[in-house]
Amino acid sequence: MNMNTNTITERITVLGLGAMGRALAGALLAAGHDVTVWNRTPGKADGLVARGARSAPSVAEAVEASPLTVVCLLNNASVHETLEPVVGKLAGRTLVNLTSGSAQQARELASLLGEHGVRSLAGGIMAVPPMVGTEGAVILYSGERDLFDQVAPVLSPLARPHWVGEDPGFAALYDRAALSGMYGISAGAIHAVKLIHAEGGDVETFKREVLAPWMELTLPLMVAGAVVSEEVPEEYNADMQAVGLETMLATSAAAGVPDELAGHLRASLWVMRRAAQAGQVA
Ligand SMILES: NC(=O)c1ccc[n+]([C@@H]2O[C@H](COP(=O)([O-])OP(=O)(O)OC[C@H]3O[C@@H](n4cnc5c(N)ncnc54)[C@H](OP(=O)(O)O)[C@@H]3O)[C@@H](O)[C@H]2O)c1
Repeated sequence: MNMNTNTITERITVLGLGAMGRALAGALLAAGHDVTVWNRTPGKADGLVARGARSAPSVAEAVEASPLTVVCLLNNASVHETLEPVVGKLAGRTLVNLTSGSAQQARELASLLGEHGVRSLAGGIMAVPPMVGTEGAVILYSGERDLFDQVAPVLSPLARPHWVGEDPGFAALYDRAALSGMYGISAGAIHAVKLIHAEGGDVETFKREVLAPWMELTLPLMVAGAVVSEEVPEEYNADMQAVGLETMLATSAAAGVPDELAGHLRASLWVMRRAAQAGQVA
């Protein structure tokens, strides 16, 4: 890998040409890199080949074509199925796995690759395919810092590279945790509009005039108030919050909103009750 010079063109292999893999390979091509691609099912490389990519007929030939391989497959099982037969050919090369998975899976893959002389980074893509290569897209990386420092400028056309630690599992951990926060917001918004709809309210007006400005105002406070210990900020008044959450659950049940949609309220109630019991009452 020609990473210690100012030369911008690098040889990079991309394994996996699903929606995300195609976006990644396309962004690398657009940045002027020399890109080799491989996909299990033939045909998905055609658009990229028309733009200058080389299509490798096998995984082995694909990984041999470049000092740096980026992997973006469906899941951890497909990564092992694809890489294990060619791990010997990866020795002395660098691999960046951008396939979503668990922290433990990332640690196990890094360990397997390390045993075979492959340096690797694990990544978590904080973007959907159309966002790749655009401002706002971020890819979390974990693994050895010096390797990240070499690889980040090369892969920066994909998304802003953000290193989260030496532990190879941390990119997945941070990615899963950030998505947990996002789904929490999503669950709350879905529950809110179901509640309004169930009682005959105007959902669109509610979203525009009440929910969106309220969530915009409170989001930074919610993030700041998310603490690890049983302490909640004093101004939260845990007892009062618990009473309020019980009322919300009762309102939801009376409106006939399925109880499965109220899980976020139960989680918050659990936190507030524990905080109140721990004496964190204003
Ligand atoms: N799309 C998103 O919005 C998004 C966002 C962030 C992260 N990601 C992550 O990016 C990864 C890829 O997502 P995607 O959207 O590209 O998915 P996708 O469109 O479903 O593509 C899946 C890819 O994995 C390949 N594959 C599946 N099983 C395989 C196996 N056993 N052996 C070899 N190749 C196999 C598929 O090959 P075939 O063409 O042969 O089936 C295809 O190239 C996932 O881990 C996903 O979580 C996606």
